[in-house]
Amino acid sequence: MTANEPSGDPGESAMDPIAERLRTQARLAASEARLRAILDSAMDAIITVDEAQRVVLFNAAAEAMFGYRRDEAVGLPLATFVPARFRDAHAEQVRAFGAGARSSRRMADARVVTGLRRDGEEFPIDAAISHLTEGARRFYTVILRDVSARVRALEDLRRSKEELSQLAAAAEATREHEKSRIARELHDELGQSLTMMRMDVAWCKANLPQGAPGFAARLERMEALLKATVGATRRIASDLRPLMLDDLGLVPALEWLVQTMGQRSGIECRLTIDDPGLTLPPAHSTAVFRIVQEALTNIVKHAKAAHADVDVRQRDGVLTIVVRDDGVGFVPEDPREPSSFGLLGLRERTSLLRGTATLRSAPGTGTTLEVALPLLRAGPP
Ligand SMILES: Nc1ncnc2c1ncn2[C@@H]1O[C@H](COP(=O)(O)OP(=O)(O)OP(=O)(O)O)[C@@H](O)[C@H]1O
Ligand SMILES: [Mg+2]
Repeated sequence: MTANEPSGDPGESAMDPIAERLRTQARLAASEARLRAILDSAMDAIITVDEAQRVVLFNAAAEAMFGYRRDEAVGLPLATFVPARFRDAHAEQVRAFGAGARSSRRMADARVVTGLRRDGEEFPIDAAISHLTEGARRFYTVILRDVSARVRALEDLRRSKEELSQLAAAAEATREHEKSRIARELHDELGQSLTMMRMDVAWCKANLPQGAPGFAARLERMEALLKATVGATRRIASDLRPLMLDDLGLVPALEWLVQTMGQRSGIECRLTIDDPGLTLPPAHSTAVFRIVQEALTNIVKHAKAAHADVDVRQRDGVLTIVVRDDGVGFVPEDPREPSSFGLLGLRERTSLLRGTATLRSAPGTGTTLEVALPLLRAGPP
């Protein structure tokens, strides 16, 4: 047996350099096949490029994602998979990354980059990049995930939130308009008629013929009843929407609100407004009035407070409303009761006017609501 002949004896063949090279090549081929199988089973597209940014590795997911077969893709510039308008910036990004110290990173932290399929379709991708130096050669590997579905779902969610918000605003505006109409009719139609009747009853009382004591007592009762009914009509109309909000403006309406809430509840309510001449656009006036109304109603309903302070001030184009009570407090982070809509509506009103609402409270510490509304670029979106 010569030294070059294959042999079953491992001791002998170990010494044979050709057989050893063949075995090494076979091991290498098996290892490459294993690596390829792993790369091809990956859900993400994996592309390796050399320092000239030409493809040297293209896995099965990359084939499916971009629509090129592996043998077509190898040798193509990485720019093939990027829309023309992003190519320069993208190539520069990869180069800059290669020059940097880090060996791997997400390509666009918190931002999605854009890919280009063979048929010209653009799609959003989440990309990570790493680089590796082999001898004198440098390789970059990008791992790409098609996030079209996620981006679409996020966009749908954003649009649906926006639509819901617009719907809520439209419903609220309709309700407000309707309340205003009913309040106006109660006040102007019913209120005026009742007042006229009171005047007629007063005239009858004054001109009652002698010797009809039963009539006098009845007229007395009618007058008292009419007086109470006029009062009730005014109260119901004001509760719907205080007409002074439209007729006299926000400040008198807030003064009326704070005073009425205090009288009805027994809580000592105080209002401070830094600018007594404050006038706001109608949407803002209504929002501020309803916000203070909801905050005070919550204090009366839930807080068991002795004092409530309402502070309205305007500075640097921002209107700040602070409503504070010294009541029992609560945990604002607790899940909302299904039937509770007050604070939700308050936040919605605030965000429609691009403002912020902050609620600070804890059991035993009272509650502070702070709403900030920008006034400069005011107006609904
Ligand atoms: N000032 C406050 N003091 C104590 N608890 C409060 C105060 N404001 C709100 N809460 C608590 O927060 C909850 C949610 O308030 P929210 O105004 O959203 O609903 P609600 O007042 O219960 O019902 P709705 O306003 O829809 O009539 C209340 O049920 C109450 O437990
Ligand atoms: Mg409420």
